[in-house]
Amino acid sequence: MKVLQVSAEIFPLLKTGGLADVAGALPAALNAAGGEVRVLLPGFAPILADLQGPEVLTELTAPWGERVSLRCGRLAALGTVAYVIDAPQLYCRPGGPYEDQHRQPYRDNHRRFALLGFVAAQLARGLDVDWQPQVVHSHDWHAALAPAYMAFSRAAQGPDVASIFTVHNLAYQGVFAAHDFADLGLPQAAFSVDGLEYHGQISFMKAGLFYADRITTVSPTYAREIQTPEQGCGLDGLLRSRSDVLSGILNAVDESVWNPAVDRLIPFAYDVRKPAGKARCKAALQQTLGLAVQSDALLFGVVSRLTEQKGLHLVLAGLDAMMARGGQLVLLGTGEPALENAFRARAAAHPEALSVRIGYDESFAHGIFAASDVTLVPSRFEPCGLTQMYGLKYGSLPLVHRVGGLADTVVDSSLEDLAEGLANGFVLDVFTLDAFERAMRRAFALFARRPEWNRVRVRAMRQALGWERAAAQYLALYQDACSA
Ligand code: ADP
Ligand code: GLC
Repeated sequence: MKVLQVSAEIFPLLKTGGLADVAGALPAALNAAGGEVRVLLPGFAPILADLQGPEVLTELTAPWGERVSLRCGRLAALGTVAYVIDAPQLYCRPGGPYEDQHRQPYRDNHRRFALLGFVAAQLARGLDVDWQPQVVHSHDWHAALAPAYMAFSRAAQGPDVASIFTVHNLAYQGVFAAHDFADLGLPQAAFSVDGLEYHGQISFMKAGLFYADRITTVSPTYAREIQTPEQGCGLDGLLRSRSDVLSGILNAVDESVWNPAVDRLIPFAYDVRKPAGKARCKAALQQTLGLAVQSDALLFGVVSRLTEQKGLHLVLAGLDAMMARGGQLVLLGTGEPALENAFRARAAAHPEALSVRIGYDESFAHGIFAASDVTLVPSRFEPCGLTQMYGLKYGSLPLVHRVGGLADTVVDSSLEDLAEGLANGFVLDVFTLDAFERAMRRAFALFARRPEWNRVRVRAMRQALGWERAAAQYLALYQDACSA
């Protein structure tokens, strides 16, 4: 099965969040399960720099007339064959992949990412005479025009290539002004309620949801939630109307990157049978950060984008209760200035108990999962969430809100689930400070019963979290879409 994976990010080359982790892990997992995956990426500087033997496959003209090159080579970091759109004027800029240095979205984002979908559709139409994909699997709004271009090309007797669209986060939709539609080169018919028109504007996300042959999202629970008005971000009606082709496939953990037994980014290796390294990681981190070096202080960790989604207001509001019980917090994150400042201020007032680092740091993130006892992910909503799974792998029991993928991966340490050997963390049923503090109290209570805590931790670390299962599910879906 020849699959073209289309995404804006890919770990380890370019990452702003979990999308990159998934895009980086899926090709190898699908290949191991019998797929043949190539990836298509925008030519951001780190991606172009990693591309080996980058031959210009062809030059092409974007729908608005700009000339760009398409390179094909192998990504050294992943060993995967990649098509990369070489257009430095569009992708090589100071600032992030989507926003400039002042955190403002680039004004031409509709062009920058329409091009990604456009080139995907060209590859589906046989642009590379040596490699014809059977499936184009595009991820999130950045790649969401691929199914639209493909649908119109199919209508014009193009080859029958299946389009799969995966929603990683419905809250980011790629909505642009109506006058940008002219740049996309799509037939006028696409600017309609039955198309990508969205309240008089254009929505890339809606294009993916409307035109794709199959829609997936990153957990079964989120697949249900997005069909409700509360979580549908205005697209629940469309999603309900397509429920026959919508499914949830739970993300997984890339165990070649996230595994405390072999992780070079943590100071002491450990695993279920030899857990001593975890205590040493904790002591070392407490020491480095200037926290009180106490093995019996319950250490909470947060590695997160600091946005409304992640529910960190609860963490801020719960800090006093946490410290009153002798708990400590280490946080690594970046995002909304108000949250950054609030956490900084609290840490400055309590340096022995709270450590806050504002920034993005892959290796420090690994250190936090290894050192902490509890990973906090009390998100308001969470399509899947990867950090709670990294917490499980590293024996840092997740404390989560029962939504999306968090609900699908974490079982609360209630008496009955402890008794039945199912518990692997702490879960709040409702998004309130009271529920959050009660979940924290359950964590403290379990920590006080160390043998029981250790049993739960062993279960968490033993949980099967690899990509094999999801890869098999995606391949089955591709087969199904191709034979439809
Ligand atoms: P989301 O994609 O919504 O941000 P996920 O839990 O799916 O949430 O994935 C987040 C990914 O980004 C994880 O790999 C996490 O470790 C990483 N991450 C988030 N913030 C930081 C940070 N400040 N420094 C390093 N890694 C981070
Ligand atoms: C998004 C979601 C997150 C998910 C990730 C990878 O960023 O917010 O929940 O884990 O994509 O699918």
